[in-house]
Amino acid sequence: MRILLLTHAFNSLTQRLFVVLQQDGHDVSIEFDINDETAQEAIDLFQPDLIVAPYLKRAIPEAIWAKHTCLIVHPGIIGDRGPSSLDWAIMNQEKIWGVTVLQANAEMDAGDIWASVEFPVRDVTKASIYRNEVTTAAVHAVQEAIDSFKNSNFTSKPLKQCLLTAKGKLRSAMTQDDRRIDWLVDDTTTILRKINGADGFPGVKDELFGREVFLYDAHVAKGIQGMPGEVIARSGLAICRATVDGAIWIGHLKDKGHDHNFKLPSTVLFAQETRQLLEIEHGYQDIYYEEDCGVGYLHFPFYNGAMSTAQCQRLLEAYRAAIQKDTKVIVLMGGPDFWSNGIHLNMIEAAKSPADESWKNINAMNDLSQAIICTTSHFVISAMQGNAGAGGVFLARAADEVWAHENVILNPHYKDMGNLYGSEYWTYLLPKYCGEGHAARITQARLPMGVIEAKDLGLVDDIICGDKSHMLEEVTSKARRLASFKNLELFLRKKKKQRKQDEMTKPLAAYRDEELRQMKKNFYGFDPSYHVARYNFVYKVCKSRTPLTLAKHRNVRCMETRRAA
Ligand code: COA
Repeated sequence: MRILLLTHAFNSLTQRLFVVLQQDGHDVSIEFDINDETAQEAIDLFQPDLIVAPYLKRAIPEAIWAKHTCLIVHPGIIGDRGPSSLDWAIMNQEKIWGVTVLQANAEMDAGDIWASVEFPVRDVTKASIYRNEVTTAAVHAVQEAIDSFKNSNFTSKPLKQCLLTAKGKLRSAMTQDDRRIDWLVDDTTTILRKINGADGFPGVKDELFGREVFLYDAHVAKGIQGMPGEVIARSGLAICRATVDGAIWIGHLKDKGHDHNFKLPSTVLFAQETRQLLEIEHGYQDIYYEEDCGVGYLHFPFYNGAMSTAQCQRLLEAYRAAIQKDTKVIVLMGGPDFWSNGIHLNMIEAAKSPADESWKNINAMNDLSQAIICTTSHFVISAMQGNAGAGGVFLARAADEVWAHENVILNPHYKDMGNLYGSEYWTYLLPKYCGEGHAARITQARLPMGVIEAKDLGLVDDIICGDKSHMLEEVTSKARRLASFKNLELFLRKKKKQRKQDEMTKPLAAYRDEELRQMKKNFYGFDPSYHVARYNFVYKVCKSRTPLTLAKHRNVRCMETRRAA
């Protein structure tokens, strides 16, 4: 079937649908919802059988929904309507929430219902529920709706009919008044819920050190107390604010009045103000190590998967300490939502010299990648619980094996960031693990990839299926088995020999030099594309057109191939 995804942005949910619907054998193209004319033009060019809207910020015009079946993915249970579905679900402590696929008509979110899938709500951020439960439920609901579309006997259910029994209802857009924290009244659980319900967007408006800020990345601070509302300590990137019954870590802030009005670590935004605060060593932990049965697990749940220079350096230190231990296997766990998204574009944008900071950040990533590649004392595994993008994918490939959850999406390309060449020793790693042919394909395509394709191409070695919450258990049992494997020593000896041979054929330093020579041009050369793309990414500048890599209906060569087929 020919399916057009009409979407505000190519976000994680849209990427998953794009990958899965193609796997299901559909011909899928994408158009960003910029205005009525471009949407109509896309339809005229692509002639879709079905239009699916996974993420829209405005209604589909009548001229389109009256002529074509348009299915909207709504992140709410049956009957729920309004733009703040998940926010209200978290705020109201709903135990069960869902995704509903409904047909576009004259009233927003009020069309006939085609499918609905429910899930239990975890106690995490809105963004995490969206990237995990909502995305998986949306995929199942859209697949069900597509099956129904093919079935001539199917009739969708009018919302009015469903409302007789449905729990969902029309809810207003949540305002900052609804989200406001009263530090003298709200307990820690309430504050955490308010911040979680607004994370990653829009954040909770608040005041800190006399400035209006938005709060993100909150965690309970155990064993700390103070005057409610007061900032009482710091730990790494985070500040600690006392509540009526404890305290809370706040890892990231946005100050809309600041020169850099995008998310930054709290102690970076308030570097001066927080300098004198009591530093707590193991408070806010964005890196931690665990050990069990001869296996070391290194977790690095960096906010949004972005890795700054300092974070790469700290991770390298933790990695070096881990390989000194009396273990055989190291598992690089990343975080629950992202494994890594490469260099930290926000920190770079906020630096005095973004070019210098980009240079430092990529070198710090490379040092980490090099340490992983050169480890011959341990079997190293990258275990992807969440998505990885750009340098993060290649950093994972530096390990001996990459294990990924079945729902993971990889974006193994740099070019969308202003034609960035990329480093992390990808020119060594890709041909080695994927072969020259696949390496070329991986770097040319600027598209997201599911784990099945990634395994075919050699980017992933093993796929872990089932409930994501059991990923840790599955990884643990596989890693334990490896650690007790009789032939592990033999493998490590072979690995050492292979590394020596590779080094003789072409030293790692040569790969690094060649990659960095290209990166220098990106950072310091005449072409400002990378700096412009980074600015647009960090400031979330709306796209004015859909890239030809996504809008295949606008890509003449691609359409000609399709017609010929
Ligand atoms: N640096 C800083 N922030 C980053 C980041 C990075 N490298 N990668 C992602 N983020 C942030 C996004 O700005 C977004 O922030 P928000 O919470 O304020 O909305 C959040 O992470 C989620 O990213 P989003 O783009 O919504 O996720 P996605 O799953 O839809 O898309 C990617 C994933 C990887 C395609 C996309 O995030 C991306 O292109 N990232 C940049 C990768 C890159 O070029 N890295 C530098 C080269 S190594």
